[in-house]
Amino acid sequence: MKKIVIEGGHSLSGTIEINGAKNSAVALLPASVLCDETSKIYNVPNISDKDVLIKILEVLNCKVTSTNDLVEVDASELENKKIPLELSKKMRASYYFMGALLSKFKHVEIYFPGGCNIGKRPIDMHIRGFEALGAKVVTKGDLYIIDAEDLTGAKITLDFASVGATINIMLAAVKAKGKTTINNAAKEAEIVNVATFLNNMGANIVGAGTSTITITGVDCLHKAIIETIPDRIEAGTYIILGAMIGDKLEIKNIIPEHIGALLSKLTEMKIPYELNPNSVVISKAENIKPTNIKTAVFPGFVTDMGQPMMVLLTQANGVSMFEETIYENRMGHVKHLVNMGANIKNGNTNAVVIGPTKLYGCDVEATDLRGGAAMVLAGLIADGTTKISSIEHILRGYDSIVEKLQNVGAKISVIEEEE
Ligand code: EPZ
Repeated sequence: MKKIVIEGGHSLSGTIEINGAKNSAVALLPASVLCDETSKIYNVPNISDKDVLIKILEVLNCKVTSTNDLVEVDASELENKKIPLELSKKMRASYYFMGALLSKFKHVEIYFPGGCNIGKRPIDMHIRGFEALGAKVVTKGDLYIIDAEDLTGAKITLDFASVGATINIMLAAVKAKGKTTINNAAKEAEIVNVATFLNNMGANIVGAGTSTITITGVDCLHKAIIETIPDRIEAGTYIILGAMIGDKLEIKNIIPEHIGALLSKLTEMKIPYELNPNSVVISKAENIKPTNIKTAVFPGFVTDMGQPMMVLLTQANGVSMFEETIYENRMGHVKHLVNMGANIKNGNTNAVVIGPTKLYGCDVEATDLRGGAAMVLAGLIADGTTKISSIEHILRGYDSIVEKLQNVGAKISVIEEEE
């Protein structure tokens, strides 16, 4: 079993370059099957979720070439096959093949997706969106069978501004007859990235990035090129790290508007940083003020930053209140932080963090992707050695995390150890 081992307490300086956004790339890859030609997706991060999606594309008979950060997908001989259970379950984003294959073939068979264990994660809004476009959805256990004679534009109002439902409905609607309107659409930057890719293919999507998206169906789509936006969650994770143990640590290749909520919180916490057009330079801050965090949809404080942020709260002088509003239970990391010395009282969606507390290295687990990132941050600021198990969660979403941290002075490595 692979584990990450960290000897904490070494200050970090130099530059960390941010890769393409996981949550964009995992939608861009499935979207590439919408045309019958070869599309090029640049700046795709090297993460295990990418490998799983490429395997799914190959099951569907796409020819995929992956060189450095470029993935070329030739969908000219695409076949509509049932995506195997073990691939669907490896990640949440396998569900984007629902919308893409429904648009392409009007028939999809696919299993309920996997992804981080952070509470119930239903896909009812995706399904209601497909049904509004004219599809019929039958479930057999975890298998979804989706059929449509025709897809026709509709007015769809989401109960909640879901990222996944917004993208999946866009994918399904690009070639539907007439106009589809998604009200209460999610506004995350990843949605704009996917809509841009589809528009580059010849789709007619207006309003991505606002709460009303209008999609006018087109007859066919052609090959396109897209660059994946930088990963705002990866950037935020390293910025938080810089605030705790940086020595002029530069986080490069960011889009400041995508991390506005985090930067405002840092300012509120009296943590200085230098903001440049595409980078942040940040050092270990003294006398950090506590703050309250309530996660929200974009442009609010993103849920995916909540767990790394909680590590920073353990270093603030006083009481911080934390509230998770998107997921039922994203607190798996807390008991491990407490084992390391943090003073945190939590329920499923709330936590009170009392700081500052010294953290001490010990054996911990990456309970999920961002919980795992929180363990890496905690290990890097702790006294002594931290050993993290279940690191496959971390490698699903952070490109070269160990190498990037080694390059800025961290004592971190991956070891193989018997269970
Ligand atoms: C995406 O998940 C991201 N995943 C998540 O990334 C991220 O936390 C989330 O958006 C919010 O930003 C991918 O892009 C692959 P949602 P998604 O639909 O699309 C409920 C990470 O760490 N809901 O916006 O699944 C749902 O249960 C992660 O990178 C329904 O009830 O998120 C959740 O409580 C994990 N019915 C909330 O909405 C639905 O049909 C937000 O879900 C759909 C969602």
